[in-house]
Amino acid sequence: MQHRIAVVGGDGIGPEVVAEALKVIEAAGAKVAVENFSLGAAHYLATGEVLEEETLAKLRGYDAILLGAIGPAIGSTDVPPGILERGLLLKLRFELDLYINERPFLTLDASSTTTRKQADFVVIRENTEGTYAGEGGFLRRDTPHEVATQGSVNTRMGVERAIRHAFEVASGRPRRHLTLVHKTNVLTYAGDLWARAFASVAKEFPAVATSYNHVDAACIYLVEDPGRYDVIVTDNLFGDILTDLAAAVTQGIGYAASGNLNPARTGPSMFEPVHGAAHDRAGTGGANPYAAIRSAAMMMRFLGEDEVASRVERAIGVLPPSGLDTRKIGDFYAERVS
Ligand code: IPM
Ligand code: MN
Repeated sequence: MQHRIAVVGGDGIGPEVVAEALKVIEAAGAKVAVENFSLGAAHYLATGEVLEEETLAKLRGYDAILLGAIGPAIGSTDVPPGILERGLLLKLRFELDLYINERPFLTLDASSTTTRKQADFVVIRENTEGTYAGEGGFLRRDTPHEVATQGSVNTRMGVERAIRHAFEVASGRPRRHLTLVHKTNVLTYAGDLWARAFASVAKEFPAVATSYNHVDAACIYLVEDPGRYDVIVTDNLFGDILTDLAAAVTQGIGYAASGNLNPARTGPSMFEPVHGAAHDRAGTGGANPYAAIRSAAMMMRFLGEDEVASRVERAIGVLPPSGLDTRKIGDFYAERVS
């Protein structure tokens, strides 16, 4: 079956890694009709537009979105912080109701550096609420008495659907274990809601074993013993921070894939590597397309193409030989899937 994919290469290394991802899934037999969308820092600087209403409306009509990376070069002052993050990436997550951010981590070779440890786990990050929701504001801005608040929004519905998805993911894995990560000892309102929702959804999944970690302790466990985790579910901001740490202790940020999912399928889901635009590597061949390739495999799995997805996942179960450039890494995996 052919799938219509909106491709947002974006900035820096984004277009390069996405090209390799498409090459690998097509070599694995994926039938995709691709349309490219120009969005990101370069598009904003050229047009003054972050995400036109018309573009958003068009994107809604695709089966999935594959995104490379969005963002200006580090140190550049052309694009103020938040413009692209809130106006594009978060806007897509919120508008398309991509309420799950699913991030799998797998150590391919723990011996490659001293910080890596053997692990194979998935973080389910709530993706539309928490401190990301945009609640808050300023009082008396730019005066000595200014106040800034940024509240955390936790709806029972939003929390519960994230937790239910996490239980479903855990049910399908051999270890069937799910850990809630929060800070219930201090965030006694939000944490309480999360803990109650977790306990009540757990009753629907008696085969899944559960535990709870405070987020600060989870940071220690992730560094010292990441192999203990099977599936983690957590809120938006904790999930953002924990997944960068998780990348660092498994195979590195160049290997971290993600799916921004709308499991209710009221619109397209969006797949993107966790890493950024890395402008310093753009055009040098120094970008690692692995995370984009794994994200594209997640996309095919979500589109129901289990055979293609499994073929790619098997192929990327090994590190590429060292010394290969971006395109050669793509070739290496494309050869292994075909
Ligand atoms: C991520 C990124 C984004 C986030 C930023 C770029 C808005 O860090 O996908 O993890 O904070 O979610
Ligand atoms: Mn992040």
